[in-house]
Amino acid sequence: MAITSTPITPVLGAYVHGLDLAGITAEQFAQFYPIWQKHHVVVLRDQKLTNAQFERFSAMLGELDPPPNQGAGRKSVPGHPNLYVVSNRKSEQGEPLGALGDGEAQWHTDMSYLERPPFASMLWSVELPSSGGDTWFASMPAALRSMPDHLATRVSHLSIKHDGTYDSGGNVRKGMVANDDPTQSAGTVHPAVIVQPETGEHTLYLGRRRNAWIPGLPVDESDRLLDTIWGYATAEAVTLRHQWKLGDVVLWNNLTTMHRRDAFPPDQIRTLHRSQIKGKYTLSGIIRQEAA
Ligand SMILES: [Fe+2]
Repeated sequence: MAITSTPITPVLGAYVHGLDLAGITAEQFAQFYPIWQKHHVVVLRDQKLTNAQFERFSAMLGELDPPPNQGAGRKSVPGHPNLYVVSNRKSEQGEPLGALGDGEAQWHTDMSYLERPPFASMLWSVELPSSGGDTWFASMPAALRSMPDHLATRVSHLSIKHDGTYDSGGNVRKGMVANDDPTQSAGTVHPAVIVQPETGEHTLYLGRRRNAWIPGLPVDESDRLLDTIWGYATAEAVTLRHQWKLGDVVLWNNLTTMHRRDAFPPDQIRTLHRSQIKGKYTLSGIIRQEAA
């Protein structure tokens, strides 16, 4: 069966049809990859997978990144140390068996505080609540394109310090100390606009809003400018909402999108397995590459 795709919004996301990830071949992967690159987020429905098959498909995109240190600790799928459990399920002793709980997670790109942030991530739905827990994505190239020229030009000359203190649930990361002064907190500086190295597409790169800072500006001025930028980055016209069905696999480009998730009823269980692909590119190097 031929692999086809249907756009989800005019600027972001595609459903991919005719692809069974359990047995995906190298030839099928070669057809699939440009669809993902073009649409940044792809959704594959009704996937019947084992953890080993999910891991095998993930590894076709690059080297797998083991789960990060989160506030709740490191939670891998038993027997699969490279797969991460995103779940509010607890053991009989009340010990969390996954990360992120049942609360809302704020807009972010994964681990943007690293020199080489992860290249891509994907989630596979295993257990779902009856409502809530939707995952939202935002297109950073579309957000950049939506800005007035004077703002896009200004932003393209800025850098942003990405905070490494807090995770997207607002918890202090393991080994970090709470610090709400963005000029002093632990973090990494990246260009505010990067060139996606595989497509040449220009894209905003924002990470997280909390503790973000534009070096060189007073914090209050930086906050005002970042709030303006974030208004474009999270506008409805550049976002899509994914309402999960069992067996969905959703893959996103971590350099060109942000994501967030809604809270869900705490008396229900939501479990997703996640894989992440290690960063392949140093973001400051992308700008140098463009200038060359
Ligand atoms: Fe995330």
